Amino acid sequence: MSRTFLVAGNWKMNTLPEEAESLVRGVISVAEAANVNVAIIPPFVYLFDAVRSVQGSSVAVGAQNCHYEKKGAFTGEISAEMLAAAGCRYTLAGHSERRLYFGESDEIVVKKTLAILDAGMTVIACVGETLNERQAGNALKVVERQVDAIVSKIDKDAFANVAIAYEPVWAIGTGLAATPEQAQEVHKFIRTILTTAAPDTHIPILYGGSVTDANATELFAQPDIDGALVGGASLKADVFGRIIAAADKASS
Ligand code: 13P
Repeated sequence: MSRTFLVAGNWKMNTLPEEAESLVRGVISVAEAANVNVAIIPPFVYLFDAVRSVQGSSVAVGAQNCHYEKKGAFTGEISAEMLAAAGCRYTLAGHSERRLYFGESDEIVVKKTLAILDAGMTVIACVGETLNERQAGNALKVVERQVDAIVSKIDKDAFANVAIAYEPVWAIGTGLAATPEQAQEVHKFIRTILTTAAPDTHIPILYGGSVTDANATELFAQPDIDGALVGGASLKADVFGRIIAAADKASS
């Protein structure tokens, strides 16, 4: 089973149109030479333009969220089918900011995951413990619950379109990344769960939480870290490019 790195940039609620346009162009140029999967995950309003811009390049486009219903009276929501039709290859499910600020439970995350898979996209399902949970010694227990909730509902055939992002909540946007050893411990644990659920598929496990060009190489050197879900550092094409280059080096 081959190990293909994925480096995805989650822009969150950032960039105005001109910045978004120039960031897409910048990422296309820094991703060009690299032999890794690269995705940008801009806000919804930029998806059509981003998809048009990346055509013919190695960069894919993803969405940050979706609704689990196919269509209907859900004002303000966007379905997975719409995102796929717009040209998205990836959609995130269960980002901790969605869990924390928008009350997304494991149950909702599962529904979204299935909708994303059903629409033919790859889901990047996010898991991770809070600082309190880690300090109480419950990091692995929390991650196990979150991963189990997701993988127990996925059909065997669909695992080829699944990536898991381990994003410890305490490391997101804090500048305090997990150490490579801390991340590896949890990734290895997640790998065990995934190998039992889908023995024939190598499901990429991405690390997220204060990834920068300064720590990417060390993180990617870990045997069970297959890439990164990058927040703040994905908003600068040159920094994001150096993270992509680190993944390229680790995979070759
Ligand atoms: P930061 O890289 O800004 O810590 O964000 C990580 C994240 O939440 C990516 O989804």
